[in-house]
Amino acid sequence: MSVALDTRIMQADGAAIRAAARCLAAGRLVAFPTETVYGLGADATNGTAVARLYAAKGRPLFNPLIAHVADAAAARRLARFNAAAERLAALWPGPLTLVLAKAPNCPVADLATAGLDTIAVRVPGHVVAHDILAAFGKPIVAPSANRSGHVSATTAQHVGADLDGRIDLIVDGGPTSVGVESTIIACLKSRPVLLRPGGIPRAAIEQTLGRALADSTGIAPIGGRETPLAPGRLESHYAPNARLRLGADSIHDGEALLAFGPLPPGAERASRTLNLSSRGDLVEAAANLFSYLRALDAGGATTIAVMPVPRVGLGEAINDRLARAARSR
Ligand code: TXA
Ligand code: MG
Repeated sequence: MSVALDTRIMQADGAAIRAAARCLAAGRLVAFPTETVYGLGADATNGTAVARLYAAKGRPLFNPLIAHVADAAAARRLARFNAAAERLAALWPGPLTLVLAKAPNCPVADLATAGLDTIAVRVPGHVVAHDILAAFGKPIVAPSANRSGHVSATTAQHVGADLDGRIDLIVDGGPTSVGVESTIIACLKSRPVLLRPGGIPRAAIEQTLGRALADSTGIAPIGGRETPLAPGRLESHYAPNARLRLGADSIHDGEALLAFGPLPPGAERASRTLNLSSRGDLVEAAANLFSYLRALDAGGATTIAVMPVPRVGLGEAINDRLARAARSR
């Protein structure tokens, strides 16, 4: 970007909500908290604003965005809900995104859906996100508020570190509670497909649905042609500078340690240790994941040893993000 913007940071009060709505209406970019991670918001109906958003993130244009709305009624104006989608909408507001067929008169800019005939929609559960959506009155597209290829931001400080000078406003609502991004489910065919494990565990979704989810093969025919199902899943994501050594049950000299549960023998050899959850709680671990990865990375370690995290509940999403972070360099 040619000219650096003067990025304002406001505590999340009524004045900040009104400022956010004004910024969005003017086609500007606002970072705000959701219950999962911070989002970088733009007016979903304004193609120029959406283009600015891609530029600020450095995001490949073919990667479509999630349209956030205040309630399920607003979501129905953007997308067609089949029976499975109707069931899953019961989990809103919350960390769930549905990929659905676009509604005929969907007002969201084509750039935001990368020309697909599907659209990702979500009703976030965070009160600040909800109040901004209600004050703005239109859908807001919001990818995670990090530079493309970095780990998602879970605090306003992380947003600032990545996007200061590139966006207009950061609404600071403190650290996010869930810590990993929303679960994404495609409801396009009769059997819903898990595109991204996330803040709502698979079991909770299958229970609401009354049937098992299909797993994404990565590619599926949408609108007659082969299309990547969640295109963003293909790019390098969640990338620290340090190398990640996953499933570590011992520590090599000089490694930083990202622990889970009781520390392994020899843990004192680690250059620095952060424990996702010393009591082995996956909810706590998810909430800490991205900020601890950032912190260990900022400490300059060349390798971060990561202890095994069970693949149950939120552990599916945690392991998914760790695998991407390990793969991405
Ligand atoms: O928790 C979250 O979902 C956060 C907060 C801010 O809401 N947002 C977020 O957005 O994680 P983003 O852009 O970082 O990830 C959205 C993912 C991408 O992998 C994108 O490819 C996929 O959703 N996606 C969006 N629209 C899609 C569509 N029509 N079909 C398939 N995948 C889609
Ligand atoms: Mg992201």
